Amino acid sequence: MPFLMFILFVLIVVLVYFVFVSLVFRGEIKATFDRDPAATSFLEVLLTYAGLHAIIAYRITHKLREIKIPFFPRLISQLAKWFTGIEIHPGASIGQGLFIDHGMGVVIGETSIIGENVTLFQGVTLGGTGKERGKRHPTLGNNVVVGAGAKILGNVKIGDNVQIGANAVVIKDAPPNSTVVGVPGKIVKKEGKKISGVSLDHTSLPDPITQRLDRLQKEIDHIEAEIKDHHDKKRQENENI
Ligand SMILES: CC(C)(COP(=O)(O)OP(=O)(O)OC[C@H]1O[C@@H](n2cnc3c(N)ncnc32)[C@H](O)[C@@H]1OP(=O)(O)O)[C@@H](O)C(=O)NCCC(=O)NCCS
Repeated sequence: MPFLMFILFVLIVVLVYFVFVSLVFRGEIKATFDRDPAATSFLEVLLTYAGLHAIIAYRITHKLREIKIPFFPRLISQLAKWFTGIEIHPGASIGQGLFIDHGMGVVIGETSIIGENVTLFQGVTLGGTGKERGKRHPTLGNNVVVGAGAKILGNVKIGDNVQIGANAVVIKDAPPNSTVVGVPGKIVKKEGKKISGVSLDHTSLPDPITQRLDRLQKEIDHIEAEIKDHHDKKRQENENI
């Protein structure tokens, strides 16, 4: 009998959890169905989508932080990171309808602001540059899509409907309705039109280390030539004496 009571209790808790999550997170659940063709069943989304679990944990930690509970928001967010592979700082501000696809390796920094209906793929970092204090993470508008592995660094503003290409490193503002790709991120499309004159030839990007070595080699050649010149002059003087 106590065992049956226990099973009943667990079932009720699970049911209450499902009802609570489906009501409070209906925006995120809808976003998952809208934006992931692989999402087929409600139960699957509720139980297996790490992105959704990370957002649930974030909403709890954000509320705890708002009412000034110390320590626990960070603790819960770290536990959530262990389970989901996604690190969302409790201080970040995130709008409705965020969809984190696959999720592993996503990092959202403390002062990040994310608008509504944003999509982040795996490996995305909304981080600081390491040089700033205060508001040091990006602000993303509504309907922004950030491709897998992309990094947006510093207090930059990404406008509404911007698409950031996979693996881009964005360190400057992006205007609304634009596409940014490459390292460092360049605007290649604006209002649906391609921007001419933007070179995406990544095989010809300048290599600063090689450039510096070339400069050093030139300086060494110059010094060697001067020393040789000096020795020649000395030998000439000795021969004339
Ligand atoms: C950037 C992206 C959103 C496409 O946006 P778009 O506005 O339709 O842009 P286009 O496809 O017209 O590409 C514009 C230019 O950028 C280049 N480009 C596109 N994506 C790029 C990327 N990730 N890195 C470098 N260049 C890229 C294109 O080759 C094209 O160059 P061209 O003008 O010299 O031909 C898309 O390519 C992308 O990277 N999506 C991320 C998807 C993702 O991460 N999926 C993971 C699933 S698990």
